[in-house]
Amino acid sequence: MSGAAIAPERVRLGALTTLKVGGEAELWTAGDEASLREATAEPFFVLGAGSNLLVSDAGVAERVVRLGPPYATLTAFDGAADVWLGAATPLPGLVRRAQRAGLSGLEGLLGVPAQLGGAVTMNAGTRFGSLSDTLVEVEMMLDGDLVRLPADALGLRYRHSELPPGAVLTRARLRLTASTPERVAAAMIAVDDARKGQPKVKSAGCAFKNPAGDSAGRLIDRAGCKGLRVGDAMIAHEHGNFVINLGAATSRDVDDLLEAVRERVSVALELEWRRWGGADGEPPQPGWSARTPRGKG
Ligand code: FAD
Ligand code: EPU
Repeated sequence: MSGAAIAPERVRLGALTTLKVGGEAELWTAGDEASLREATAEPFFVLGAGSNLLVSDAGVAERVVRLGPPYATLTAFDGAADVWLGAATPLPGLVRRAQRAGLSGLEGLLGVPAQLGGAVTMNAGTRFGSLSDTLVEVEMMLDGDLVRLPADALGLRYRHSELPPGAVLTRARLRLTASTPERVAAAMIAVDDARKGQPKVKSAGCAFKNPAGDSAGRLIDRAGCKGLRVGDAMIAHEHGNFVINLGAATSRDVDDLLEAVRERVSVALELEWRRWGGADGEPPQPGWSARTPRGKG
């Protein structure tokens, strides 16, 4: 992909998310440093694999920036235990490759449909392990420059990170542990088993974070919410913390459903998903041109 001339396109964001909900935005696909610098000059949102996003039916007015194929560097993964990978690398492929190479550390992330950058941002994980277990260092574009930060500067906790405002992760350095393909595969069986109760249809994974010491899914189930439906958004019968899209769900449907769940569950539930657009949406990332008036590059 050539860098400098990136042509933004008008897209329906729902098509780029796993929940398949959300209106239009201007999509900038950056294939190299120069195009990423250009794309992040104005306020923007960063899109990974779109597997933890609820996007408003109205879309977003700001740019949506995503990393192009040059940032998906799975083929560069040659079995070294200490490895830099592009932030658009698909996590499922990485988890499989690490297993085949006999490298341990990522098996707890089996079944998480993220890109590496999105997995760092969410500190994706299961009770078998989180991305932060293997993350050593990241590279990011910040204010038009590429900078590196150690993992411990990112405030990674359960489903939480504190990236500097305006940062786009471009690469991540993971440190895996030597094992054998057989041992890693054996460890994956338990992770796979833990996922057996999760729905296989359109969703964005768990909607809410687990409250300390409990499972939001269990609480939602116990409150009798499975099968609760607003429009085409429904609480999955398989797992209480999964909202599924039966076909034509809107963000309004999903919001109303989340509200109905919160009314029925006595414990306060914090949303795990990131929200774009609408009154409760997160603010866009600041573009660097407003912060560094003379520009860069
Ligand atoms: P997106 O959803 O695209 O974005 C999430 C956030 O990360 C956004 O704020 C976005 O701006 C930011 N972001 C993405 N890329 C970058 C980047 N390069 N630089 C800066 N910011 C960036 N999650 C778990 O933790 N554990 C699970 O077991 C799990 N199971 C799931 C199962 C299913 C079927 C589904 C659909 C989802 C599941 N999830 C799970 C949720 C989701 O996969 C994770 O939160 C994942 O880390 C999101 O990554 P993404 O690339 O899709 O990011
Ligand atoms: N449970 C119920 N009813 C339900 C769902 C769960 O009774 O509808 C019970 C289960 O029987 C079990 C307990 O609650 O006793 C925990 O359930 P589960 O093992 O499914 O784990 P979870 O806490 O609901 C978490 C993560 C998932 C991750 C799984 C597997 C969160 C919010 N969820 O779910 O992550 O895949 O563990 O380790 O932390 C995600 O974050 O998007 C996600 C899918």
